[in-house]
Order: sequence, then C-alpha cells, then structure tokens
Amino acid sequence: MKLIDFGKLVSRAEGQKKEKEYQILMLDDSKLDDVMKLQDLIYSNLRDKDIFATDTKEDYLKDMKQGGFVLGVYVDNELISYRYVSFPGLTEKNLGLDLGMPPEVLLHSANLETTVVHPDFRGNKLQKMTLDFAVDLIKEKGYYHVFSTVSPKNVFSLANVMSAELKVKGLKKKYGQMPDNSDGKWRFILHRDLQEEVCAEYSKLITLSLTDFHSQVKALNGGYIGHEVDKTDQKIVYAENNSCSLILPNEGFSLT
Ligand SMILES: CC(C)(COP(=O)(O)OP(=O)(O)OC[C@H]1O[C@@H](n2cnc3c(N)ncnc32)[C@H](O)[C@@H]1OP(=O)(O)O)[C@@H](O)C(=O)NCCC(=O)NCCS
Repeated sequence: MKLIDFGKLVSRAEGQKKEKEYQILMLDDSKLDDVMKLQDLIYSNLRDKDIFATDTKEDYLKDMKQGGFVLGVYVDNELISYRYVSFPGLTEKNLGLDLGMPPEVLLHSANLETTVVHPDFRGNKLQKMTLDFAVDLIKEKGYYHVFSTVSPKNVFSLANVMSAELKVKGLKKKYGQMPDNSDGKWRFILHRDLQEEVCAEYSKLITLSLTDFHSQVKALNGGYIGHEVDKTDQKIVYAENNSCSLILPNEGFSLT
C-alpha cells in the first residue's frame, strides 16, 4: 500500500495526552475490514445517528473498481481515521445532480464520501489533513468538481469541509427511502470547482442560523452561497455568489 504521509499526532486516550506516530496509507480492499470496524465503533458512539450515513463493504468495493479510493490513518497498527472518495460519473449518486449540474460536470466529479476520526485522536485536524491529500489525488486523476454532503448538525465536519474552500450550494433532504427523499435527513450540498479561482471576500453577506432551514433554502434559491461557518454561534455566513471583491490566485490547477 502506498505511503501518503507520516508524522506525529496527539492521542487523548484515557484522558492523557501522548505523542504518537501516524502513517497515512492508500488502502487496498484487504483493509476494508478495518474500515468497517472503525465505522461501527464511531456509529455506535454517536449520540445523534442522524449526522452519519453508514456505508457497506460492497459500496466501497464498487466505488474502488471505478477509481474511488480510501485514505487510512494508522497508529500502532490500528486504523484511527479514514477518508473515502468516489467518482460517481453519470450515476444517481452524483451530488452534481442535486445542484442541477450538466453532464460535463458530472463526468469530472468526485464525491467526498464518509470520513471519521477515532474519538481519542480528535483535535489533530485529521479530517482537514486527509481532505487536502484527497483533493491533490482528485486533481492528479484529472477530476475537478469536488462535492460533499454535510449534516447541518455536524458543525465540526462543516467547518473542516468549508476550510478546503467548498461552498454550501444546496440544502435538502437526502438518503431517504421515498423517491422524493421526504423521509430523508437534511444535508448541505457543498461544491468546489478546482479550476476556479478562490474568492476570499464577498460584499453582500447575510448570516443565518444552521438550523433555520427555511431562510437558508430561500437564500440559496436567491443566488447566495454558504461562504463561512461560525462554529461558536452555529451560524453560516451566506454571500451573494456574484459579489466577490477579492480573488486569490488559483494554486496551479492545470488540465493535462
Ligand atoms: C467530524 C470529525 C471527523 C472531525 O474530527 P477532527 O478532524 O479530529 O476534528 P478537528 O481536529 O477539526 O477538531 C477541532 C476541535 O473540535 C473538537 N471536535 C472534533 N470533533 C468533535 C466531536 N465529534 N465532538 C466534540 N468535539 C469535537 C476537537 O476535539 C477539537 O477541539 P480542540 O480545538 O479543543 O482541540 C470527527 O468529529 C468525527 O469522526 N465525527 C463522527 C463522524 C462524522 O461526523 N464524520 C463526518 C461525516 S461523514
């Protein structure tokens, strides 16, 4: 398995801080049992199951056959975190469909699927770290539309995903049994086009509570995008999409 990165992080097991060495590996399917085991542990410890949609081993195997990948973080030979990415193409799993994106976008889309960090290792910014590696790998593979769903109740995950410049572009119910998802769970749909320059400052801003679904849907329908999250106040700063006043240079994405 390919070594992606290594270094030191802090474990908080049994309330004691200890420095540990970690390795980030590109997992092959022989490690999917480790992934399932960690997923079960995380899910059983979640107070609100609504924030996390579990995956099966078959989901992983299917996506890995289509070029999808899983980055795993190991400490003392134990998987303590993973990040799962898929390339859904023209299938109904493509989150571009939720934003009405055309086939050209769908064919170059990557979905950031699930990601977890073991409770003893939270606070090391592992979600953001594996996201940055995943974005580099997505670019290397020639894909440039990055999508993710995040629960409005999951402010930790939302802050990390938005720190990689993905913006909230939709809010709807997902993962239900009914064809219209009316029995589903509320999810933000986030997107970033890696070819576009990053807008650092917008001039038309409104701040909305993460739980005020009605006002957020109205803002999104009116041409606003979720630009920044305020973790303390549980709010999102929405910006009018075409009111950008400061553009940062794109860090060299080129199509080869
Ligand atoms: C979301 C998640 C991956 C973030 O983990 P992470 O990368 O370690 O988070 P960060 O390093 O950004 O944490 C920043 C701060 O928030 C705290 N924090 C992170 N996740 C937390 C959680 N679920 N509950 C309480 N505090 C949490 C960290 O301890 C840290 O606090 P500190 O600044 O005082 O040290 C992790 O919380 C998790 O695995 N949650 C359950 C699964 C999930 O929701 N996955 C995302 C959807 S697929």
